Amino acid sequence: MTRISKLLQPRMVLLITSYADNTHDVATFSFVTPISFNPPLLAFSVAHTRYTKELIEKNPECVVNVATTEMLDDALYCGTRSGRDVDKFEKIEWEECETVKPRRVKKSPVQLECKVLKIIPAGDHNIVLCEVLTEHVKTLEYKPLMHVSGSDFATSTKIGPVA
Ligand SMILES: Cc1cc2nc3c(=O)[nH]c(=O)nc-3n(C[C@H](O)[C@H](O)[C@H](O)COP(=O)(O)O)c2cc1C
Repeated sequence: MTRISKLLQPRMVLLITSYADNTHDVATFSFVTPISFNPPLLAFSVAHTRYTKELIEKNPECVVNVATTEMLDDALYCGTRSGRDVDKFEKIEWEECETVKPRRVKKSPVQLECKVLKIIPAGDHNIVLCEVLTEHVKTLEYKPLMHVSGSDFATSTKIGPVA
Protein backbone atom coordinates (compact mmCIF):
# COMPACT_ATOMS: atom_id res chain seq x y z
CA MET A 1 0.00 0.00 0.00
CA THR A 2 1.11 3.55 -0.71
CA ARG A 3 1.86 5.67 2.38
CA ILE A 4 -1.48 7.39 3.12
CA SER A 5 0.17 10.83 3.44
CA LYS A 6 1.24 10.57 -0.24
CA LEU A 7 -2.35 9.87 -1.30
CA LEU A 8 -4.12 12.65 0.63
CA GLN A 9 -2.09 15.82 0.09
CA PRO A 10 -1.17 18.61 0.41
CA ARG A 11 -2.16 19.34 3.99
CA MET A 12 -1.67 22.45 6.15
CA VAL A 13 1.33 22.50 8.46
CA LEU A 14 0.66 23.42 12.09
CA LEU A 15 3.05 23.86 15.01
CA ILE A 16 1.41 22.40 18.12
CA THR A 17 2.67 23.35 21.57
CA SER A 18 2.20 21.50 24.84
CA TYR A 19 3.27 21.79 28.48
CA ALA A 20 3.57 19.52 31.52
CA ASP A 21 6.13 18.76 34.27
CA ASN A 22 7.68 22.25 33.92
CA THR A 23 8.55 21.50 30.27
CA HIS A 24 7.33 23.31 27.17
CA ASP A 25 7.37 21.58 23.77
CA VAL A 26 6.53 22.47 20.16
CA ALA A 27 6.24 19.99 17.29
CA THR A 28 5.13 20.01 13.65
CA PHE A 29 1.90 18.35 12.50
CA SER A 30 0.06 18.00 9.20
CA PHE A 31 -2.49 15.32 10.12
CA VAL A 32 -4.87 18.04 11.38
CA THR A 33 -8.51 18.81 10.55
CA PRO A 34 -11.43 21.02 11.64
CA ILE A 35 -14.26 18.91 13.14
CA SER A 36 -17.12 21.15 14.37
CA PHE A 37 -18.25 24.81 14.06
CA ASN A 38 -20.21 24.97 17.33
CA PRO A 39 -18.51 24.25 19.60
CA PRO A 40 -15.30 24.88 17.62
CA LEU A 41 -13.55 21.50 17.54
CA LEU A 42 -10.49 20.28 15.69
CA ALA A 43 -8.53 17.05 15.70
CA PHE A 44 -4.94 16.10 15.04
CA SER A 45 -3.16 12.80 14.84
CA VAL A 46 -0.11 12.14 17.03
CA ALA A 47 2.13 9.06 16.90
CA HIS A 48 2.49 7.05 20.13
CA THR A 49 6.19 7.91 20.40
CA ARG A 50 5.91 11.72 20.34
CA TYR A 51 6.82 13.69 23.45
CA THR A 52 3.80 15.86 22.58
CA LYS A 53 1.56 12.86 23.30
CA GLU A 54 3.15 12.33 26.72
CA LEU A 55 2.69 16.01 27.62
CA ILE A 56 -0.96 16.31 26.52
CA GLU A 57 -1.79 13.14 28.46
CA LYS A 58 -0.42 14.79 31.60
CA ASN A 59 -1.86 18.24 30.94
CA PRO A 60 -4.77 18.15 28.44
CA GLU A 61 -4.07 21.49 26.74
CA CYS A 62 -2.33 22.55 23.53
CA VAL A 63 -2.00 25.47 21.14
CA VAL A 64 -2.45 24.93 17.40
CA ASN A 65 -0.37 27.48 15.45
CA VAL A 66 -0.64 27.91 11.67
CA ALA A 67 2.71 27.74 9.83
CA THR A 68 3.34 30.03 6.85
CA THR A 69 5.73 29.47 3.94
CA GLU A 70 8.19 31.82 5.71
CA MET A 71 8.20 29.34 8.62
CA LEU A 72 9.50 26.35 6.61
CA ASP A 73 12.81 26.19 8.55
CA ASP A 74 10.96 26.31 11.90
CA ALA A 75 8.56 23.57 10.74
CA LEU A 76 11.46 21.33 9.72
CA TYR A 77 13.34 22.07 12.94
CA CYS A 78 10.33 21.31 15.20
CA GLY A 79 9.41 18.26 13.12
CA THR A 80 12.78 16.53 13.16
CA ARG A 81 13.80 16.56 16.82
CA SER A 82 12.00 15.64 20.01
CA GLY A 83 11.35 17.85 23.01
CA ARG A 84 12.72 14.93 25.04
CA ASP A 85 16.19 15.79 23.70
CA VAL A 86 16.15 19.53 23.01
CA ASP A 87 14.39 22.67 24.19
CA LYS A 88 13.01 23.78 20.81
CA PHE A 89 11.94 27.10 22.32
CA GLU A 90 15.61 28.14 22.38
CA LYS A 91 15.10 28.68 18.61
CA ILE A 92 11.35 29.40 18.38
CA GLU A 93 10.04 32.79 19.54
CA TRP A 94 6.94 32.51 21.71
CA GLU A 95 4.33 34.45 23.65
CA GLU A 96 2.14 33.62 26.65
CA CYS A 97 -1.40 32.30 26.26
CA GLU A 98 -4.55 33.67 27.89
CA THR A 99 -6.39 30.46 28.82
CA VAL A 100 -3.87 27.58 28.71
CA LYS A 101 -0.31 26.95 29.92
CA PRO A 102 1.38 25.95 26.61
CA ARG A 103 2.95 28.77 24.60
CA ARG A 104 1.91 30.44 21.35
CA VAL A 105 4.36 30.52 18.44
CA LYS A 106 5.01 34.24 17.94
CA LYS A 107 5.47 34.20 14.13
CA SER A 108 2.21 32.31 13.59
CA PRO A 109 -0.69 34.39 12.13
CA VAL A 110 -3.39 32.16 13.69
CA GLN A 111 -2.95 30.65 17.16
CA LEU A 112 -5.69 28.52 18.73
CA GLU A 113 -5.61 27.85 22.46
CA CYS A 114 -7.22 24.44 23.00
CA LYS A 115 -8.47 22.06 25.65
CA VAL A 116 -7.82 18.38 24.80
CA LEU A 117 -11.15 16.53 25.17
CA LYS A 118 -10.14 13.01 24.13
CA ILE A 119 -7.12 11.00 22.98
CA ILE A 120 -8.29 8.01 20.95
CA PRO A 121 -5.80 5.31 19.85
CA ALA A 122 -5.96 4.86 16.05
CA GLY A 123 -3.45 2.51 14.42
CA ASP A 124 0.10 3.77 14.87
CA HIS A 125 -1.25 7.21 15.83
CA ASN A 126 -3.85 8.69 18.21
CA ILE A 127 -6.69 11.05 17.34
CA VAL A 128 -6.55 14.08 19.62
CA LEU A 129 -9.92 15.85 19.82
CA CYS A 130 -9.59 19.49 20.90
CA GLU A 131 -11.95 22.35 21.70
CA VAL A 132 -10.75 25.84 20.81
CA LEU A 133 -11.07 28.04 23.89
CA THR A 134 -9.41 31.22 22.61
CA GLU A 135 -8.42 32.26 19.09
CA HIS A 136 -5.74 34.79 18.16
CA VAL A 137 -6.02 35.91 14.54
CA LYS A 138 -3.26 38.35 13.60
CA THR A 139 -4.15 38.16 9.90
CA LEU A 140 -5.93 35.79 7.53
CA GLU A 141 -3.83 37.08 4.60
CA TYR A 142 -1.06 34.52 5.07
CA LYS A 143 0.52 31.98 2.74
CA PRO A 144 -0.03 28.59 4.38
CA LEU A 145 2.83 26.12 4.34
CA MET A 146 1.54 22.84 2.94
CA HIS A 147 2.94 19.36 3.53
CA VAL A 148 3.06 16.51 1.02
CA SER A 149 5.05 13.76 2.77
CA GLY A 150 8.44 13.43 4.45
CA SER A 151 10.52 16.46 3.45
CA ASP A 152 8.25 17.28 0.49
CA PHE A 153 6.33 20.57 0.90
CA ALA A 154 4.00 22.71 -1.25
CA THR A 155 2.35 26.13 -1.34
CA SER A 156 -1.35 26.80 -1.90
CA THR A 157 -3.08 29.13 -4.38
CA LYS A 158 -6.56 30.38 -3.54
CA ILE A 159 -9.16 30.30 -6.30
CA GLY A 160 -11.56 32.73 -4.58
CA PRO A 161 -15.39 32.74 -4.58
CA VAL A 162 -16.83 31.00 -7.65
CA ALA A 163 -20.46 32.11 -7.29
C1 LIG B 1 5.91 18.63 8.00
C2 LIG B 1 5.81 17.62 9.13
C3 LIG B 1 4.58 17.14 9.50
C4 LIG B 1 4.46 16.22 10.56
N1 LIG B 1 3.21 15.76 10.91
C5 LIG B 1 3.08 14.91 11.97
C6 LIG B 1 1.79 14.49 12.39
O1 LIG B 1 0.75 14.89 11.84
N2 LIG B 1 1.71 13.63 13.44
C7 LIG B 1 2.83 13.19 14.12
O2 LIG B 1 2.71 12.41 15.08
N3 LIG B 1 4.07 13.60 13.74
C8 LIG B 1 4.22 14.45 12.69
N4 LIG B 1 5.46 14.89 12.32
C9 LIG B 1 6.65 14.42 13.07
C10 LIG B 1 6.86 15.18 14.39
O3 LIG B 1 6.77 16.57 14.20
C11 LIG B 1 8.27 14.83 14.93
O4 LIG B 1 8.33 13.45 15.23
C12 LIG B 1 8.67 15.67 16.15
O5 LIG B 1 10.04 15.43 16.37
C13 LIG B 1 7.88 15.30 17.40
O6 LIG B 1 8.34 16.11 18.44
P1 LIG B 1 8.04 15.79 19.98
O7 LIG B 1 8.69 14.45 20.30
O8 LIG B 1 8.73 16.93 20.70
O9 LIG B 1 6.56 15.75 20.16
C14 LIG B 1 5.61 15.78 11.26
C15 LIG B 1 6.87 16.28 10.87
C16 LIG B 1 6.97 17.19 9.82
C17 LIG B 1 8.33 17.73 9.44
